[in-house]
Amino acid sequence: MASSLKIKVNGLTHGVSASLDTPLLYVLHNELHLHGPRFGCGLAQCGACSVLLNGNEIRSCVTPVASVAGQNITTLEGLPALWAAQSKSTAAAIPALHPLQQAWIDVQVPQCGYCQNGMIIQAADLLGTTKNPSLQTIKEAMNGHLCRCGTYTAVIEAIQQAAATMAKGA
Ligand code: FES
Ligand code: FES
Repeated sequence: MASSLKIKVNGLTHGVSASLDTPLLYVLHNELHLHGPRFGCGLAQCGACSVLLNGNEIRSCVTPVASVAGQNITTLEGLPALWAAQSKSTAAAIPALHPLQQAWIDVQVPQCGYCQNGMIIQAADLLGTTKNPSLQTIKEAMNGHLCRCGTYTAVIEAIQQAAATMAKGA
């Protein structure tokens, strides 16, 4: 049976109608039309569906929507605004891209692109709390994200670039 819920995504509160155990991913896709998070395994194994919940990476494919009602959810689409808030920018405008997104472009990380949402979201979780992560810390943080195209080396390079940018801007 569907229930009325309020979920807060990228700073906006949305009223949605869904069963309490509907995966958050389905609500993001089907109700809010946010397609940054992807459906991969549906089993919390690959990371393609990742979003931030109060700044921490979660797997939206196995997260019941009711469990996150009223909490702060950030998707790939919301990262520029998150960066504006984290960097305490005095500029009125929200930047077009989060430093991670810019680094992903600069380093030309994606191949097919399917896993990249989760990679960037996980990196945003890491850099949200750790200013200059070591190589080992980055590898450990990214360990739960699978990439069939083997972009791991480029992912690390992009995270290091973004970390340097964010250290200057935060
Ligand atoms: S689709 Fe959620 S972890 Fe794979
Ligand atoms: S870029 Fe293709 S699965 Fe990662």
